Amino acid sequence: MAKYYHITTYGCQMNVHESEKIAGLLNEMGYECCDDVQNADIAVFNTCCIRENAENHAFGNIGMLKKLKANKKNMIIAVGGCLTQQIGKADILHKKFPYVDVIFGTHNLGKLKDYIIKKQSNKKAVIEIEEDDGNLYEEIRSLRTSYPNAWVNITYGCNNFCTYCIVPYVRGRERSRKSKDIISEVKELVSLGYKEITLLGQNVNSYGNGTDEISFPELLAELAAIEGKFRLRFMTSHPKDFSEDLAKVIAANEKICNCVHLPVQSGSDKILKAMNRRYMAADYIEKIETLKKHVPDCAITTDLIVGFPNESEEDFAATMELVNKVGFSSAFSFVYSKRDGTVAAKMDGQISEEISKMRIMKLIDLVNSQTREQSKKYINKTVEVLCEDYDKKKGLYMGRDEYGRMVYFNSETDLIGEFLNVEISSANGISLLGKVV
Ligand code: 5AD
Ligand code: SF4
Repeated sequence: MAKYYHITTYGCQMNVHESEKIAGLLNEMGYECCDDVQNADIAVFNTCCIRENAENHAFGNIGMLKKLKANKKNMIIAVGGCLTQQIGKADILHKKFPYVDVIFGTHNLGKLKDYIIKKQSNKKAVIEIEEDDGNLYEEIRSLRTSYPNAWVNITYGCNNFCTYCIVPYVRGRERSRKSKDIISEVKELVSLGYKEITLLGQNVNSYGNGTDEISFPELLAELAAIEGKFRLRFMTSHPKDFSEDLAKVIAANEKICNCVHLPVQSGSDKILKAMNRRYMAADYIEKIETLKKHVPDCAITTDLIVGFPNESEEDFAATMELVNKVGFSSAFSFVYSKRDGTVAAKMDGQISEEISKMRIMKLIDLVNSQTREQSKKYINKTVEVLCEDYDKKKGLYMGRDEYGRMVYFNSETDLIGEFLNVEISSANGISLLGKVV
């Protein structure tokens, strides 16, 4: 059987799940997955461009295949994803890497098979980027690679146009899948034995907007009513659309994890306004209070950006203050990365690398100390863990509790896909170590 190798050049769940769609398409064509690119008949890159380093990573990875392709002339190299969808990027890629055979965008992912067939009977590279046409990719069957976890898209695209963000330009306008399609996909996954379903969208809270579909809290309630033991998670939530109804649904349904990813980005009102986030720091705190009123033990995670244009020391101090106040269970902290075509890229007052680096180090220190403090509270407690994987390096199984904490433990038997009670003996920053009881 011919072999394929796919390379996700950025680890966000949206991208990982899209690679599962690519894997499904290749599988239908008769390719099976291999884990060494040297043995591959086809290599597909699923790229990301959210920050410059993700883009550089993709360029580096594609560059590394030059030698292999020179020795393996019939091997097909295809590049898709967010990077190729940016205006003019497909041509730049083609000039820089003339040995790449197929370049496709985010909107025409479903045509990858046609492009591969076309390339097989054609000397020239196939370069096809299409405009947003409201695609919901319903015809693609994913080849899932993350058992017992499964990702399910509920919306695609984004309408928010945060001024720093490239996503609305490369993923198109926000569109929602039909609730009946989502419900039947989740039912099928549960019947196949998947134990944790994560609903994906750039802004899951605006699910159904502009349609006669049910709301996001209603969708969650319907999914939680599906029989069987499984967990439900969702990401990402935009604070401006986070409602009390959602907090109530989380509280009322055991299957919905008490864990919410709610990116705040900054604690400064001036910067939030310049980012076009459409909430102020106080609104964010109010949302957290509403959430905690209904779900007191809810773990809250976030995304933070430092070094946005014109961010002063006072603005950065406001971010530190907000982080101090909320007490996130973990957070992703990023240095602002200028993305061509976005509103922020044209702003004066870009912050030097040196200042941004200093700020991010301080922020990461604060976030890590909060994470460590929260981890310590687990010691001697017993938590329910879904076993997800075996870590060969550590020689231990790993899983997560409902709050998203990573837990390592020993076992003689394969426990992947099982819910277990683990007594925590020690905490190491973000991860915990324990014993199955
Ligand atoms: N620079 C830095 N971080 C960014 N993000 C999105 N765009 C940028 C950018 N240009 C971050 C945001 C978002 C997360 C997915 O990536 O924090 O929530
Ligand atoms: Fe980007 Fe803002 Fe949309 Fe998130 S909500 S994808 S940060 S534009």
